[in-house]
Amino acid sequence: MDKVFLVASGKGGTGKTMFAVNLGALLARCGKRVALIDMDLGMRNMDLYLGMENRVVFNIADAMSGMCRLSKALLKVNGFDSLYFMAASPRKDDRQITSKHMSALCDILKKYFDYVIIDCGAGIGQPLEASIPAAQCAIVVTEPEVASLRDADTLVNFLSDHGLRNSYLVVNKIDNELITAGVIPDIQSMINSSATPIAGMIEMDRRIRISTGRGVPIVCTEGTPIEENFRQIAGRILTDQPFPAY
Ligand SMILES: Nc1ncnc2c1ncn2[C@@H]1O[C@H](COP(=O)(O)OP(=O)(O)OP(=O)(O)O)[C@@H](O)[C@H]1O
Ligand SMILES: [Mg+2]
Repeated sequence: MDKVFLVASGKGGTGKTMFAVNLGALLARCGKRVALIDMDLGMRNMDLYLGMENRVVFNIADAMSGMCRLSKALLKVNGFDSLYFMAASPRKDDRQITSKHMSALCDILKKYFDYVIIDCGAGIGQPLEASIPAAQCAIVVTEPEVASLRDADTLVNFLSDHGLRNSYLVVNKIDNELITAGVIPDIQSMINSSATPIAGMIEMDRRIRISTGRGVPIVCTEGTPIEENFRQIAGRILTDQPFPAY
């Protein structure tokens, strides 16, 4: 079973951190033990989206450089029994985190957690490359525009060339009005034309923006269509049953 998920994107701002936080929160609410790792070094946001910004003292660079014990940098998220999180360093740090560090970190975390979810920055960079060997599955978050979809495709190829061949797309910020107007591709044509399996779609919804701003994952509000979206996406990824193309 895949345990370590890498959340990445071609373009910036597609919703990676929002997705990582909510996938982690959903799995934790289902009783799984989940570790969220912020690898967006120098541009961290995960602490904010989890409402944990005032609790962070040590970060991943501190833990990897031996400045603190791992347990000091791994915080239990407020309001959850089994969701933990490790912050990225707040500014560009010259203590480089290598693939050896990431593999060693994930090997330890896999002993204590059901799932490890690593949130990377946009595009291709050293933190992403360092995280690839530790991961078994990539979730590439894209917006539904052609440019974003093409960059997602480029990233999936890059991951595959670097040994991570199991990738899913999540298409976020779906705007049904733009689909109806023909400005962005409809869902079935996205599924049919994508070389990468699509695990699901998430609609553009201002409640998501409000939830990231408040620091409370949107999946904590039960019964919303967004929570259902996340349930379906998690189910498809964990059972390896993406949307069928036809
Ligand atoms: N489906 C959605 N509907 C509305 N707003 C969304 C949706 N998904 C994400 N957002 C908003 O978009 C913004 C960017 O999201 P987020 O920070 O998760 O993107 P990111 O891909 O992690 O960005 P970066 O590339 O900078 O790391 C946030 O304000 C978030 O609330
Ligand atoms: Mg982010």
